[in-house]
Amino acid sequence: MKWAVLVGGKGSNLQALLDHSLEVGLVISHREGVGALQVAEAHGLAHTTILPGAFGSRAEYGQALRDALERTHIEAIALAGFMRWLDGETVAAWSGKIFNIHPSLLPAFGGMNAVGQALAHGVRWTGVTIHLVDEGEDSGPIVAQVPVPVLGDDTEESLSERIHRIEHQIYGPVLKAFEAESFGVHGRRVIWRHDIEGFEGGRYAVGIDQCDR
Ligand code: GAR
Repeated sequence: MKWAVLVGGKGSNLQALLDHSLEVGLVISHREGVGALQVAEAHGLAHTTILPGAFGSRAEYGQALRDALERTHIEAIALAGFMRWLDGETVAAWSGKIFNIHPSLLPAFGGMNAVGQALAHGVRWTGVTIHLVDEGEDSGPIVAQVPVPVLGDDTEESLSERIHRIEHQIYGPVLKAFEAESFGVHGRRVIWRHDIEGFEGGRYAVGIDQCDR
């Protein structure tokens, strides 16, 4: 399956997806000069920067994204540090085939700086969520979640690092599981038919009861 990875940060998740042998046909960044573009370049991947500021509306930005995605015959999309909401038309064009990874246990701490939000709130657990993208903001059906403890002396940096380690382990196997049709979406619920391969906490992340069906 040919994926586009939408980025805007350091690109550590893009690197992890490549390490898990995802076929990445295009990398799109919403920011110039980010590490993710260097990762794309280092791997010889097609990449482009589409800056939201150059467009008058979310819809126009979406049209530019779709043009790039369609030109490259992209089948599915993984957001990895892409800090923009997609417009309805783009979501509809790849309905059920757009995933996002977010550094909290949604629906807690959606939006920007989820790690800082968790620290400021004083939660003892936060985590990682992989969800399908719908027209809302961090609101699509949840595919997998892994909790991460917040330690007493955590800083944003130390907690981010612990969260990133989990993200790198789980995103690739979940997207590979999607390719293998290991789960189905029923309304808001994602029902897993098989465990995640290649991630030791797989059954935990996807829900043990669901795996046992
Ligand atoms: C990741 O932690 C990802 O969960 C987060 O951006 C980071 C990108 O890191 N995404 C969001 O906060 C989305 N709302 P990376 O560029 O090193 O992959």
